[in-house]
Amino acid sequence: MKVIKLDAIDSTNDFLKGLSQTQNVENFTAVTAKTQTKGKGQMGSKWLSESNKNLITSILIRDTLTSIEDIFILNMTVALAIVEALKKYKIPAVSIKWPNDIMAENKKIAGILIENSIKENGKIDSIVGIGLNVNQTDFENLPKASSLKIYMGLDFDTENLLESIVDEMQTYTTKIKNGETDSLWQEYTQNLFRKDIPTVFEDNKGLKFMGLIQGINPNGKLEVLLEDDSVKQFGIKEITMVY
Ligand code: BTN
Repeated sequence: MKVIKLDAIDSTNDFLKGLSQTQNVENFTAVTAKTQTKGKGQMGSKWLSESNKNLITSILIRDTLTSIEDIFILNMTVALAIVEALKKYKIPAVSIKWPNDIMAENKKIAGILIENSIKENGKIDSIVGIGLNVNQTDFENLPKASSLKIYMGLDFDTENLLESIVDEMQTYTTKIKNGETDSLWQEYTQNLFRKDIPTVFEDNKGLKFMGLIQGINPNGKLEVLLEDDSVKQFGIKEITMVY
């Protein structure tokens, strides 16, 4: 595995994107940084991470997806790869909060931001950005966040964690290439945060309702069993989980 280690950068995702467009960067090359000045989160948010405490990385995945419809499958495999890597470190109660936050019990410990670009030959390059809270213990302004250290009471080596995650990503992306999407779906569903547990959701009009997460549909929408016994599917921008 090739790792490009940086001290400070605006965003490892942007850096790797630029590099992969101008140079011949090997598949699964990872860029890490001790700190980011413009760390990017999901839906235009910022990703904040204390300097030199956590895993801040972007990994290039070349030519694995063949259509833009497969994007959610890559999201699933990256989330699963992180969960599997963490299970190997004996971290219990790790789950995936749909669509792709990684949780330890009911706190978020990692986020994923994947940026895809279709090349002239029709193939897709994906920059998989991962922020994993490892040894940071102060989350005063982020009450829903936690870290491996808070959870396990000990320090972890971020480089070893990266290696384990990339190993798992290689295994899982082979499954995509082999068309084993059904088993990926099953595994993802089994690891869903609050699956089959009564959960409060809020829709984009501010209305709260109760439901049971059943799984996800082929488009990556969340399937929720509502109190009137109907099953409804929600897109990423349609609901948030209040728990
Ligand atoms: C989220 O909002 O949950 C996604 C967070 C993704 C953060 C990572 S840190 C490394 C990479 N570079 C970025 O600018 N963002 C991702």
